[in-house]
Amino acid sequence: MLDVYMPMMKSAAIVSAGRLGLFEALAKGPLSVPQLAEKIQSSIKGTATLADFLIALGYLEKQGGLLANTESTQRWFTSLGQVDYTPGLLWTHEAWPMMGGLAEAVRSGHPERTLWDAMVEHSHLGELFSSYMAAFASDLGPDLLKHVPVAPEQHRLLDLGGSHGLHAIRFCRRHPQLSAVIVDLPSALSETGTTIAREQLSDRIHLRPGDLHEEDWGGEHDLVFYLSVAHNHTAEENRHIIQRIGDTLSSGGMLVIHEYLAETPLDALDAAFRLTLLLETGTQTYRYDEFCNWLSAAGFVSVVRIDLDPREKGSLILARR
Ligand SMILES: C[S@@+](CC[C@H](N)C(=O)[O-])C[C@H]1O[C@@H](n2cnc3c(N)ncnc32)[C@H](O)[C@@H]1O
Repeated sequence: MLDVYMPMMKSAAIVSAGRLGLFEALAKGPLSVPQLAEKIQSSIKGTATLADFLIALGYLEKQGGLLANTESTQRWFTSLGQVDYTPGLLWTHEAWPMMGGLAEAVRSGHPERTLWDAMVEHSHLGELFSSYMAAFASDLGPDLLKHVPVAPEQHRLLDLGGSHGLHAIRFCRRHPQLSAVIVDLPSALSETGTTIAREQLSDRIHLRPGDLHEEDWGGEHDLVFYLSVAHNHTAEENRHIIQRIGDTLSSGGMLVIHEYLAETPLDALDAAFRLTLLLETGTQTYRYDEFCNWLSAAGFVSVVRIDLDPREKGSLILARR
């Protein structure tokens, strides 16, 4: 029972801290329990009880008589850290009730209704999911800039499933000759136009809300991003999309895939992610050799695989036409 009870309580405590803004409240420095309770508008008793568990888990620590974030909490769950994954905690709060349907998804082999349908019904879900993806994107962004070469004569970037727009923004900032098109479902793009406008890039980055299977991607492109999107599609859909990407790429153009590649045997994180996908979208992760088959069928050459560090960040696959 400890394998069931303790992960549930650990997850519930960390998610609740995120929802209450507890880690952010400690970002600028340690506080006493009553000060923290006031800042997060909670009872002293509740705050102390939650803090006790977060200390035991290594998320908070005592400094003198005061409560403080540990180094790792400060780094991953506050606006003053390297990446703020708080949107991931808020998303996990929404994912909890969905996980209640896991046995039914296992029984039928597919979700009762996909995440994308749920987002159409409950618009806040799309916004929240995009903010969560944006946290991943700020973590992945420097790796992409480092590994993806952009030549001066390359002008047109297509970001399929580009969601929050952060990757297109980062590349347009770094390479002033680039303009970009982002294709994604309307539910994922609700805040993207505002972010792009804030970055003063509305004249260079354009949104095409729609299903990427049906949407016109808008002519020829020099660089195509397919970042963390393949696991949301079936093998047959990926084969078709990669073929279509091949057709849209200019000669010498590059496709950049980011994925969590399935290894044999699967480790626990891979296997957990595949179970999540079974429930949320009915799809799965794929092996590197499957991507290689799709790429070579679409006429891609010089395929390169880059495993990112740390491994949980996934892999990049770069391929040229
Ligand atoms: C896991 S997120 C990755 C977001 C972004 N590319 C990134 O790397 O942060 C997958 C994205 O693909 C989009 N997506 C999934 N199926 C799609 C479809 N059929 N048409 C357009 N976008 C789709 C989702 O809305 C979501 O924004």
